[in-house]
Amino acid sequence: MHRKGIMERELDIDAAKYISSLNFDKEILESVILVNIVHIRLLEKAGIISSELAEKAEKHLQTMLIKPLSLDDPRYEDVHMMIEAELIKYVPQIGASLALGKSRNDAVATAIRLRLKERLLNLHESCVTFCEAMLRKALEESEIIFPVYTHLQRAAPATFGFVMHSYAVRLLKALQHIKLVYELSDESPLGSAAVAGTSVPLDREYAASLLGFSKVSQNALESTTSREFVIEALSCLSIIALILSSLSEEFVVFSSEEFDLITFPEEFSATSSIMPQKRNPVVAEIVRTKVAELLGLLTSAIMMSARQVSGYNLDLQQITPKLWQAFEIIEETLRIMTKLIPRLKVNEDKCMSACSPPTGIVEVANHLSLKYGIPFRNAHAFAGRISKLIYEGNLNENSLQKTKAEFNIETPLTLKDLVNLMEPKRVIYSYTTVGSANPKLVKRAVEDSMMDLEEEKRWARSKRANFEFALNKLKGRISAQKT
Ligand code: ARG
Repeated sequence: MHRKGIMERELDIDAAKYISSLNFDKEILESVILVNIVHIRLLEKAGIISSELAEKAEKHLQTMLIKPLSLDDPRYEDVHMMIEAELIKYVPQIGASLALGKSRNDAVATAIRLRLKERLLNLHESCVTFCEAMLRKALEESEIIFPVYTHLQRAAPATFGFVMHSYAVRLLKALQHIKLVYELSDESPLGSAAVAGTSVPLDREYAASLLGFSKVSQNALESTTSREFVIEALSCLSIIALILSSLSEEFVVFSSEEFDLITFPEEFSATSSIMPQKRNPVVAEIVRTKVAELLGLLTSAIMMSARQVSGYNLDLQQITPKLWQAFEIIEETLRIMTKLIPRLKVNEDKCMSACSPPTGIVEVANHLSLKYGIPFRNAHAFAGRISKLIYEGNLNENSLQKTKAEFNIETPLTLKDLVNLMEPKRVIYSYTTVGSANPKLVKRAVEDSMMDLEEEKRWARSKRANFEFALNKLKGRISAQKT
């Protein structure tokens, strides 16, 4: 209908399907309706439309929230055109004025932000829940000896709790990124119109407050063109995928027979259709791949928004579904990992033997330096030779004393002292630095992280309360007093 003025022919049906966003607009359907309700209020406030008709249109839009449109009519380019056509059927004067001062460009930019804010709050909650599972596990296993690696070579005795806590801390940092993206998305483009603003006297501040945004965007060209906030969200999701991918790689490697440090839970494993002895950690394998999917989505989004002249281009439309796909993937992955974590079992004997001498031998060198003032380089060389003797099965009182003489280690150190210094439990309890794997310090660090999580929850609660209060008013669920 709107093309009649300028075009003589209808859009080719295949072309219409090709350019339509209807099949992925479902995600923003509700947000677009809310944006339209607000726009109608702006037109009313500006004295452009009557209160009576505005109210009628608003009621009609609210019923669309309860009984959503089915987005399957290929004649419509998108959800915006469909809602407009729908409203024209019931309140023609208002339906026909929906695009007065409002473009699909500012409407979609607003709707994406609105939905994204909600998605970010949900993601934040899922990450918090996952972190809590990790911290509970960290506490439970805070004294269970577990080797840690560098270069995938045994590096030092630590505990499984310490490793779990390290991942919780990584996730806590990702939460900071989520909050940053939330702040970036928390501004209303509505009133920017197609590209340069409008002569229609719209109160943008009012629109922002009705939609629960904390501010209005400052440049109409920027707010209708830029999708950096989407890229930010996708990179934040990619970082979460990356952390989960490393974690699941550890599960795959450490549950293999070669390491056998943990038992991967059966509920999350599959067997082979031909090799009956197999217990494959398939869930961890799938989690491990998600970072690749996420990077694909992120890269697509970057490339789709690159090389564009400012001002809306339809390329931008294709970015939006990438964002929602990424949320689906990560939410599902977090849910499954949250279930899996409590079921992991540490194989304590195997871990203990992986931490047995010479794994903790750096503490022998430390001891020689701290107690006898032996320069660390000398002590390190001596300890290196002792490691070699252990690997060769040649360490005894005799070879020890010979090696001490060779490296000028003038101390009363006996074989018994040496073995004692490397005893895994002794080693971990000897760590004194903050952030070390000493179980006492890990417990304290876990408690601090739990407090950080409480702070995170407070942040999310207050954002969600403001957000829901504003939107529930628009949805007519709270007395619709107009402010
Ligand atoms: N469906 C589009 C999107 O999702 C919005 C429409 C913009 N179309 C236009 N011709 N300006 O981004």
